[in-house]
Amino acid sequence: MRKTLRIGALASGGGSNIQSIIDHIESGKLHARIVILLSDHPEAGVLRRGERHGIPHQVINPDDFKNRQDHDRAMISVLKENEVDLVVLAGYMRVISPGFVASFPGRIMNIHPALLPSFPGLHVQQKAADYGVRFSGCTVHFVDEGTDTGPIIIQAVVPVLPGDTGETLGARILKQEHRIYPEAIRLFSEGRLRIEGRHVRILDHAVDADPCLINPILPG
Ligand code: GRF
Repeated sequence: MRKTLRIGALASGGGSNIQSIIDHIESGKLHARIVILLSDHPEAGVLRRGERHGIPHQVINPDDFKNRQDHDRAMISVLKENEVDLVVLAGYMRVISPGFVASFPGRIMNIHPALLPSFPGLHVQQKAADYGVRFSGCTVHFVDEGTDTGPIIIQAVVPVLPGDTGETLGARILKQEHRIYPEAIRLFSEGRLRIEGRHVRILDHAVDADPCLINPILPG
């Protein structure tokens, strides 16, 4: 029988993506377990979700450390103690150090609420709405030493509609985040992801050779 994937989850906020991962695990769609949930923020809503679902959780507060490296070192040691197979960042609002990335090579994922490489960084739902793009979306990628630059695993596209604000567009994107993050983790747990340079090859994967989205739609 396949071994259960041991996830270490890092989040700073409300944790709706973590909730979606928990839901996929609890409904048997994802063969994994969140063995430790870490936050840098004592008030983070995600901690209550951990509590409700009996997931071990811990705050590692950056204010208690003299620099980023020391904070990251503390995070790394808890993740190692818990023997995590995969580190999942979901709204974790700190940039992790190169030492952190090197401690879990090819084993850290992040979700970003835009279609990378467009709109890296923060407040990107607002930036996409302001820019006037016709589509935005979300991206799950492996984490490398850059910010939002790692090899892309899966993306979902959503239309930007007239009158969209950062909030309305963000809500449309978030719905899709909740679908694609568990799927990326599932592919990883099944050993089906191979990082080849900038590309992630997915083993045994069907593709739709001719999909196309046009916004606004063409007449007829
Ligand atoms: C999501 O939009 C995610 O893409 C971004 O931060 C947000 C976290 O939301 N990195 P939540 O805490 O999972 O609800």
